[in-house]
Amino acid sequence: MTQPNIELQELIAKMEQRRSKVELGGGEDRQKKQREGGKLTARERIEKLLDHGSFLELSTFVEHGRNRLMEGIEAPGEGVVTGRGTIDGRQVFVFSQDFTVLGGSLGKMNASKVTKIMDLAAKTGCPVIGLNDSAGARIQEGVDSLSGYGEIFYRNAIYSGAVPQISAILGPCAGGAVYSPAMTDFILMSRGSSYMFITGPEVIKSVTREEVTFDTLGGADVHTRKSGVAHLAYDGDEAVLEGIKDLLSYLPQSAKEKPPVKETSDPVDRRNDKLLEIVTPDQRKPYPMVDVIRELVDDGTFLEIQPDWAKNIIVGYARLNGQSVGIVANNPKQMGGSLNIDASDKAARFIRTCDCYNIPILTLVDVSGFLPGVQQEYGGIIRHGAKMLYAYAEASVPKITLITRKSYGGAYLAMNSRDMGADVVFAWPTATVAVMGAEGAANIVYRKEIKEAENPAAKRAELVADYKDAFDNPYVAAAKGYIDDVIPMEDTRRVLIQTFEMLRGKEEVRPYKKHGNIPL
Ligand code: HXC
Repeated sequence: MTQPNIELQELIAKMEQRRSKVELGGGEDRQKKQREGGKLTARERIEKLLDHGSFLELSTFVEHGRNRLMEGIEAPGEGVVTGRGTIDGRQVFVFSQDFTVLGGSLGKMNASKVTKIMDLAAKTGCPVIGLNDSAGARIQEGVDSLSGYGEIFYRNAIYSGAVPQISAILGPCAGGAVYSPAMTDFILMSRGSSYMFITGPEVIKSVTREEVTFDTLGGADVHTRKSGVAHLAYDGDEAVLEGIKDLLSYLPQSAKEKPPVKETSDPVDRRNDKLLEIVTPDQRKPYPMVDVIRELVDDGTFLEIQPDWAKNIIVGYARLNGQSVGIVANNPKQMGGSLNIDASDKAARFIRTCDCYNIPILTLVDVSGFLPGVQQEYGGIIRHGAKMLYAYAEASVPKITLITRKSYGGAYLAMNSRDMGADVVFAWPTATVAVMGAEGAANIVYRKEIKEAENPAAKRAELVADYKDAFDNPYVAAAKGYIDDVIPMEDTRRVLIQTFEMLRGKEEVRPYKKHGNIPL
């Protein structure tokens, strides 16, 4: 091997020295403190996230934007590590905020490192993954810091729907800083060590006198159970990083591509006999819809998104014969599977995410209607429910709807009926499609007859049975072409796979517009 001359050796040594300093970030003591807090360092996180040896660092030697208040302050790596690497062989761009350097605070040059990789991700059509652990705007940089945030937020919006953007919250994420993750496609949080809020406990106490801790105000459980801000919560950094890899496996590189196909040994025509035990015709017996989903999809693997928020609707990713599919399903075990404000928001957002990234949608329907209630009306269920209708109609990916049991009223439409743009609608023999359940319907339509009958109870029973006969089955809707086929439950997997296969080349031309105006 040729030895470089002395002069060159010195230059190389200097470069190595500088690089080592950057790689040490805020130094060993601060790294120790970081680990004691149960967190990995910024670089350890990148190493665990990416395929071994695939990380290519960029903007390594960027330094902070100098000003009077920053004089004499060192910020090796400028508080964020940025670059590209691969996950499962697929290129991603990543930034990892380094809390050991000025609390990972965001200044102008720190932001420029982040926007650099965001731009490269957009140009090359690859996902962006942000590992957030920052004390927010760098106080010493004032308005420059705010401008840095602005440059990131702008790109979050402009690249939204072009390339997947995934945010992990692995430490503080406070103030206006929360709006960058909030504009990305997914937020994953670590329990106990991360939090997100607009104003912290101190400010809240002084303004409203409410007393809260960081965790009870904006921890992972709060945002995955109460607010719906975050999508998934995990115990510890490593679990979050694994979660990102899993999630990414269902997504394409960009809106120009389709999601990767994962080989499976699960037969296309595997019979779903288990469904006969799970779902009975008795409308009063709720069943676990997640079990139905697991029975249908490849290897029983279902990545549920927001599993602990708005539990009356289930959304998530799975595969059918290796192809990614987004599933939206009512959950008859929660509020009778009715739709409310949060469920509408959750489903609408999920549908749009699937549509951005060319993921076909399977909708499983067992819905009693929109949840009645003054609070729902005052809260704007009209506006929120409209999001769901809008999102389904707008989505141009292949869409299959399967009615498993009841499908009533406006919710029948909100769960992607034929008229709302479903490409194919199936029903099981247990399905009933009507404006409302037979009992309620008879009470309204035949109120006079029941009241005037000699034996009102018997008359009522007779009229309920009559209404059931007329509407409470899938065949009336099937006879009118609203349902394409009533299928045997045990044959469902095969039918779904073949139908999605049929729809693979689907294209839908929409009228010219700048963008639609979804009721937000
Ligand atoms: C510069 C900061 C900083 C900041 C912390 N540091 N916050 N430096 N700008 N915003 C530095 C500290 O001086 C310290 O430096 C190191 O980071 C670690 O901070 P500690 O306080 O020692 O850490 P810890 O005890 O773990 O507390 C973490 C914390 C706290 C709760 C996040 O640091 C904190 O409250 N920071 C201020 C948060 C804040 O108000 N940020 C602005 C939010 S408003 P040394 O050298 O000692 O290691 C905002 C607006 C965004 O972000 C607007 C966008 C539109």
